[in-house]
This record gives sequence, C-alpha cells and structure tokens, in this order.
Amino acid sequence: MKSMTVYVCGECGYKNTKWLGRCPSCGAWNSFEESEDEISRSGSPKNAYRPMIETGSTPAPRPINEETDVIYERSLTGIGEFDRVVGGGMVRGSVILLSGEPGIGKSTLLLQLFAVKTGRKILYVSGEESFSQIKIRAKRLGVDNPDLLLYNETDVTRIIKTADSVCPDFIIADSIQTLYEPSSSSAPGSIVQVKNCASALVSYAKSVGCTVLLVGHVNKEGGVSGPKVLEHIVDTVLHFEGDRSQSYRMIRAVKNRFGSTNEIGVFEMTEAGLKEVENPSEMLLSENTIGISGCVAGCVMEGTRPLCVEIQALVTPTVFPSARRNSNGVDYNRLCLIIAVLEKRLGLKFWENDVYINVTGGLRLDSPGADLAIALALISSITDRPVKKNTICFGELGLAGECRSTPFGDVRINESRRLGFETIVMSKNNRDKYSGRKTSDLVGISKVYELLKVLEPKKNDDDV
Ligand code: TYD
Ligand code: MG
Repeated sequence: MKSMTVYVCGECGYKNTKWLGRCPSCGAWNSFEESEDEISRSGSPKNAYRPMIETGSTPAPRPINEETDVIYERSLTGIGEFDRVVGGGMVRGSVILLSGEPGIGKSTLLLQLFAVKTGRKILYVSGEESFSQIKIRAKRLGVDNPDLLLYNETDVTRIIKTADSVCPDFIIADSIQTLYEPSSSSAPGSIVQVKNCASALVSYAKSVGCTVLLVGHVNKEGGVSGPKVLEHIVDTVLHFEGDRSQSYRMIRAVKNRFGSTNEIGVFEMTEAGLKEVENPSEMLLSENTIGISGCVAGCVMEGTRPLCVEIQALVTPTVFPSARRNSNGVDYNRLCLIIAVLEKRLGLKFWENDVYINVTGGLRLDSPGADLAIALALISSITDRPVKKNTICFGELGLAGECRSTPFGDVRINESRRLGFETIVMSKNNRDKYSGRKTSDLVGISKVYELLKVLEPKKNDDDV
C-alpha cells in the first residue's frame, strides 16, 4: 500500500491526481477537494466496500430457479406511510439512506419511527445534536421507548465497537456527514469520509444482520453529498422533500432493492411532530380558487395511489425580449412542449406571454398523465376563462394535439368521484375503456381544442 494525494469530485466521486476546475465526469464546477487516498498496487482502494462473503469459501454459481428458503424479514414501524414507501416494512439487514434538506424533519421522523417499544433495540448515533437536545425533542414527540439508546459519537470505529456490545437491531447514523474514520486524514463530510464511514457501517450491518438508517444532507444542488458513492452502497434511498414554508412533507423512494420506487408517503409537520396524511388529495386541493382562471384540478398517479392536485397557471404579457417560462412542480421541458403544442394547434400566442406554473403542496408531477390538466390550466389562463366548477382532468398530450390514454383510468375516475368532482375530462380512449356503468360525468376528448368546452365564458369586466 502506498499513500498518495488525489483530488475527488464532491458531487460524483470522480478521482484525479490533479486538481481540476470542472469535473469531466459530472460537469460540476469547483467540486474537487484534496484527499489522502491509499491505493494498493492493484489499484483498489483500501476501504472499498466489499460484499460480505463467508471467508474461506467461494459460493458456487447456482441456477436461478433453485428452491431456497430466503424470505425477507420485514419489520413494521407502525407509521403506515413510511412502511409503504420502503415496500411494506424495513427489511432486516438492509441499509436505508434518508436524505433531505436541513430542517425538513429527518431527525423527527427517525425518532417517531421507533416511538413505541417493540422489543427491538435501536442505537441512535447522533453527531449533530447532544443527548439533551434529542431528549427535549423526544419528550415533545412523546417518544419514551426504553430500547432506543442515544449515543453521541462520531468515530465510526467506536460506533461499531459499541454496536458489537449493544447488539442493536437498528443503527441510525444522524448524519453520515458528521462521522469520520480515524485512519483517513480527510475531514468529516468529505467524500472519502462519507464513503468510508458508510462502507464500514454497511459491512457491519450485513455481517450481523442489523438494519442501518443513514441520514444524508443534501447539498445546494439538491443531491446528497457524495451522492453516487452513497447511492451505490445502500439498498434504499429515500428523499424527504416538501416546501419548508408549508407543512407538507413527502417521502419518495428513489431507489429500492426491496420494493417499488414509485410510492410516496405524505406527512404533515405539526406541533407534535409528523402526522400521516391518509387522504392527501383533500389536502392538495384548495377551495379558494374555484372560478379563477388558470386553476385546474388534475388526477395523477404516484405509484399505485391516485392523487388529486391543483395546477395553477398564470399567463401574463411579457415585458422581456424573450418570454419567461417558470415552472414549479412540472418538468420545464415538458411545459415548453405543451406550450408549443398549444401554440401550433390552437394558435394561442404564448410567445407574447410569460408563463408561470405551480403545483400546490410542493408536489412534483413526473408522469405525462398530467399533460391535459397542465394544458387546460394554460388555456384557461391565457383566455381568462375559468374552468367549470367541479371539473377534473387527466390524460397525456401528443405533439399532434391528440389526447392519449393513460394507465389506471378507472382508479383515477374513482378517486375523482370520491372527492366530489362532477365532470371528469380524459382522453376518449380512457372513457371508452371505463369498466363501470355510470358514464354521465365522464367527458372523453380526442383533440386538445375540445378542452375549450369545459371552460366557462369569459367574465365581463363589469362583473369584477
Ligand atoms: P428536524 O427533524 O430537526 O430536521 P432535520 O433533521 O431534517 O434537519 O426538524 C426540524 C424542524 O421541524 C424544525 O424546523 C421544527 C420542526 N418541528 C415541528 O414543527 N414540530 C415538531 O414536533 C418537531 C420535533 C419539529
Ligand atoms: Mg437532524
């Protein structure tokens, strides 16, 4: 082993022997930091994560259809929204990374997950807050589980030593950026330390079968510090997101080796900690925007769950040489595409107007199933005609201005009805495929201009 100085990109972990202004791997600027790395002659780093294989024997290749009795042992926390996101409870021996902005509620959630005594031991390692700070929070949240052990330590070798004597079922590291491995000279939070500490905890967890929850801070660009390195090491990556100025919080699984990555869990931050929101649609729709142009309800799918959200568009004459497009919750390119379709197929003059779009509740709409609702919001705002009362919309929009069907049509219709919508706009295909008997409230359209029929006439200036 020889020791040498290398420069590591703080964003993606790319290594170089010289400092570079821009990372050739991920394109980040000014992200290289100096780190002492030990590279063996064969070139493999000393502390690289190696899967736990029983020493001395190499497992033989086995046919995939061989009968085995491997069943994932899952443990439920009692917080349904969290259990669903991780795929039906945390798998024993798995490693979960919980990432999010500071103050979003990561530490709060972790305490609440283990609020009640279940006989499982938890080692809560905190490098950020003192024993008494956590105690005050626990008191506030009503967490008094005697099996939850608080431990203020940042040296990962000592943490593993303590874990060896305590034998916990869960280890929580809050946060991974505060831990350090003494043999490495890099500062805590640097990519090398984050990687080494995570690898050490993962190896330990896999060898004794305990579950590890790592808390990771996100950097200003929104990624976990050392994201690629950590994401490869762990089994599950959960993003804790939401608007900090509002009380809603959402957990999204962005990687999950033991379940779907589409599910989201919705919480509300209250005086007494995070509360599960079982009916997020009711929370995401507002009563105050009925009859205002540009406000449209849309039904989107988040995993297997339908969500009714409000999409707001504001289209105003531009004062800039080129019109602005500002999107919050909708992919920018998707928005531009929808605007282009409306310009071409309906002749609406968006090029003369700035467009602002917002999805309430801080939700991000990723699937094309929200296209029609976005288009309807844009048309409603530019024509200044509000959408008819109690109308909801879902469906995909094609470049030719055609309305395309989306999966889970029946589920979306049922959810919309449950919330009291009386007119449900969708593609003609979705309407024809509907399996229920009642179709009087369903409006099937095949071309985008047909959206105009669900708009109220323009208000006279005298009415205002
Ligand atoms: P915290 O869990 O400390 O965030 P993180 O670990 O992600 O940095 O959450 C802190 C925020 O949550 C803080 O702004 C106060 C708020 N909060 C409540 O509103 N109610 C509560 O019961 C608790 C414990 C925190
Ligand atoms: Mg915290």
